[in-house]
Amino acid sequence: MTLALVLLGYLAGSIPFGVLLTRWFRGVDVRQSGSGNIGATNVTRVAGKKLGAVVLVLDAVKGALPVALALRLVPELPGVHVLVALAAVLGHVFPVWLKLHGGKGVATALGVLVVLVPQAALAAGLVFITIFAVWRVSSLGSLAAGATAVGTSALTARAPEYAGLSAVLFALMLWTHRSNIHRLMRRTERRF
Ligand code: G3P
Repeated sequence: MTLALVLLGYLAGSIPFGVLLTRWFRGVDVRQSGSGNIGATNVTRVAGKKLGAVVLVLDAVKGALPVALALRLVPELPGVHVLVALAAVLGHVFPVWLKLHGGKGVATALGVLVVLVPQAALAAGLVFITIFAVWRVSSLGSLAAGATAVGTSALTARAPEYAGLSAVLFALMLWTHRSNIHRLMRRTERRF
């Protein structure tokens, strides 16, 4: 059961909605423009707000659904919920369909946290919106949101495993955003 759920999480997470939707609706490859990332931020740059919003929702849902299923099937096993959540985010970052070159995992991480630690997802969402509104830099908002999720999860998570998950997801985000962090420090990061 655990293995099947983890595999489902990985396969769901690895669906590259950003690549598929920009190809279908705009005839472009999002990996060839802007930051080259396949996530909602770059889809917004390349294909506009509407498609960006759709990708944001779908990338979050593909994380939320397998975790919700795990929560329903094995409600007493938080370790399994965490494994499925990690598998979904790793699926987005290392998708089998894109030769393991995927996205940065922000929306999918948000999706799994909506199910497991909703307070952390809400706090992270609010921090992203605030930071983005002020500085118009998506990566800065994402990193601040990730740090917020770690703190909020430590205070409110129903299981310590969930707080650990937030910390691991933030560590993964620091790695996937390494080029963004480099640009942020040099004040050359892309703005909207
Ligand atoms: O969610 C990814 C975002 O934090 C940064 O995206 O395209 O600016 O590298 P991008």
